Amino acid sequence: MVTPTYYDPQKSFAAHARIGDMQTYHALMKKAHENYEEFWGDFAREKITWMRPFTQVLDSSKAPFFKWFNGGMLNVSVQCIDRHLPEKAQKNAIVFVAEDGTQEHITYGELSKRVNQTANLLKNQFGITKGDRVVLYMPMIPDAAVMMLAIARLGAIHSVVFGGYSYEAVRERISDSQAKLVITADGAFRRGKPYLLKPTVDKALENGCESIKKVLVVARNGENINRVEERDYYYHELIASESDVCPPQELESEDTLFLLYTSGSTGKPKGIVHTQAGYILWAQMTMEWVFDIHDADIYWCTADVGWITGHTYIVYGPLACGATTVMYEGVFNYPDASRWWRIIEELKVTKFYTAPTAIRALKKLGAQAPLNYDLSSLKVLGSVGEPINPDAWKWYYEVVGGKQCSIVDTWWQTETGGQVISPLPGATPMVAGSATLPLPGMMVAVLNEEGQEVKAGEKGLVCITKPWPSMLRNVWGDSARYEKSYFGDFSKEGRTIYFSGDGAIVDEAGYITITGRTDDVIKVSGHRIGSAEVESCISSTPFVAEVAVVGEPHPIKGESLCAFVVTHANTTLEKEVMSKQINQMIKDSMGAIVSCDRFVFVPGLPKTRSGKVMRRILRTLSQKQPITQDISTLEDPAIVGVIASQLQ
Ligand code: WT7
Repeated sequence: MVTPTYYDPQKSFAAHARIGDMQTYHALMKKAHENYEEFWGDFAREKITWMRPFTQVLDSSKAPFFKWFNGGMLNVSVQCIDRHLPEKAQKNAIVFVAEDGTQEHITYGELSKRVNQTANLLKNQFGITKGDRVVLYMPMIPDAAVMMLAIARLGAIHSVVFGGYSYEAVRERISDSQAKLVITADGAFRRGKPYLLKPTVDKALENGCESIKKVLVVARNGENINRVEERDYYYHELIASESDVCPPQELESEDTLFLLYTSGSTGKPKGIVHTQAGYILWAQMTMEWVFDIHDADIYWCTADVGWITGHTYIVYGPLACGATTVMYEGVFNYPDASRWWRIIEELKVTKFYTAPTAIRALKKLGAQAPLNYDLSSLKVLGSVGEPINPDAWKWYYEVVGGKQCSIVDTWWQTETGGQVISPLPGATPMVAGSATLPLPGMMVAVLNEEGQEVKAGEKGLVCITKPWPSMLRNVWGDSARYEKSYFGDFSKEGRTIYFSGDGAIVDEAGYITITGRTDDVIKVSGHRIGSAEVESCISSTPFVAEVAVVGEPHPIKGESLCAFVVTHANTTLEKEVMSKQINQMIKDSMGAIVSCDRFVFVPGLPKTRSGKVMRRILRTLSQKQPITQDISTLEDPAIVGVIASQLQ
């Protein structure tokens, strides 16, 4: 095997880093292996401000329904705000950069005031109490974070729906979680123009959602909201009368903190359940280890609060550390492709976290552009959401980071709550394109189909062999799906093994290079899209008889969607017309972030005799690769050749 090129962290950085060498890493890992519960128990006692101490570290008696830190009581909003107030009331908690360039600086003192008032408002005027579900459909404005923390303060459960999703996605999530309240905004600004969110909520409510009694609207762009009396309320009209003291609800470690819906390989999106103590512990610890957060840092994660990255690494993680977190309303290429570099220069950002798609797009738009800005404040550059190809990695390292920064390619998932595999910026020798090693305490194994660890250089499946504090606890309302999707494949003989759905190659040094999903989840620009969901949406187009959707490699987006469509026999529409109609259908029911880049109209799909569509064969065909699978067991093996000829 060829030895990879290792890039060492800067010595000057390592000298002050929390984990400054590999000996420290190995010592932490050794402790975790020798006494797993002591490892986590010690950190939980040290890091969390408990209202009542826990009595048990880990309860595995009902595996895979694990419980962490039983007996303990806490409130995550106290962990993120109150405990910092004695020293940091004047420190910036959130620095908001609006799309028009104006900034708002919110100190910990101010954040505390806003969160307390908002919690009182939700409690007193909307009747929100412990356990209630509240759906947030918000733009990237500080109010989104304030709402999340206010909901957490009351012990209610937030479910954030990404602002790019359609009404149908909002409706589905409201109905599945039986939410009582929706909080939204009139809209926000994108590319210099106002856009709207409230009409999407209105449309969702017109199509069901009986559980929702009221809608709370934050005024952001001043557009008309078509207010419905006794249902819609403006936040700014109600908030002033509320007191800024709202005692935090005392919560059990395992009370639910939030739901976040994500796509799986089959069926509808799953409401991933995260709980209090374990989640906030790992959010904070990974901020300390992976971003090496210190008091003077200006930290910026470009994700949206609608994704898990926004939850853990814009809101909860940075605030639990008492850090300054930057929130940016706009897109990366407006007014031009240097926008982010200007923000980094102006705010003197030290730690920056973004996605490979954005890195590749920015490189394409202006490979030299970062050189025109003073980016010397940067120390750590993070990547998340999809594999980063070595070319993009090198550009990030050399041009954006000026060879002075550590790159942390962080592998994790909505389900893991926080990062799982990543370099430590002051310790781990980096390899372009590799997420490197599991973080201390994370028991990652790459297994073959039989459940044995693969040999160096072989491809396998990324699993986690022990429960960890920030893991998902359930799928909302569907425990059977939780057990089956995540623990159904490898758990046996008393061991409960989590399977992530990803594939990877491990090298002789134990470095893990993620190769991508092995199931029917497709990652388009880092967004997780279930082929089954897109297919069910396309199937409702009148002329479609059958459809299969697969991912294919895309130079910027990582993957793009390709749909194989079988039309009804009597269809006379032009292919172009059908393609347009299908994409419109997807946009209406899923949202503008999903669309197919390629349509292949075929007379039939490769199916097993039991009727299962073999997407794997379609993936191979779409990439014009030779078929290695056995196709003799297909219902109609000849269809493979027919489809291949369509693709010529
Ligand atoms: C999937 C999870 C993790 C927060 C954002 C996405 C892919 C994530 C990496 C990485 C290669 C990655 C995986 C994973 N993924 N990070 N560093 N290298 N792949 O969360 O939407 O739940 O998606 O994203 O395929 O399973 P998500």
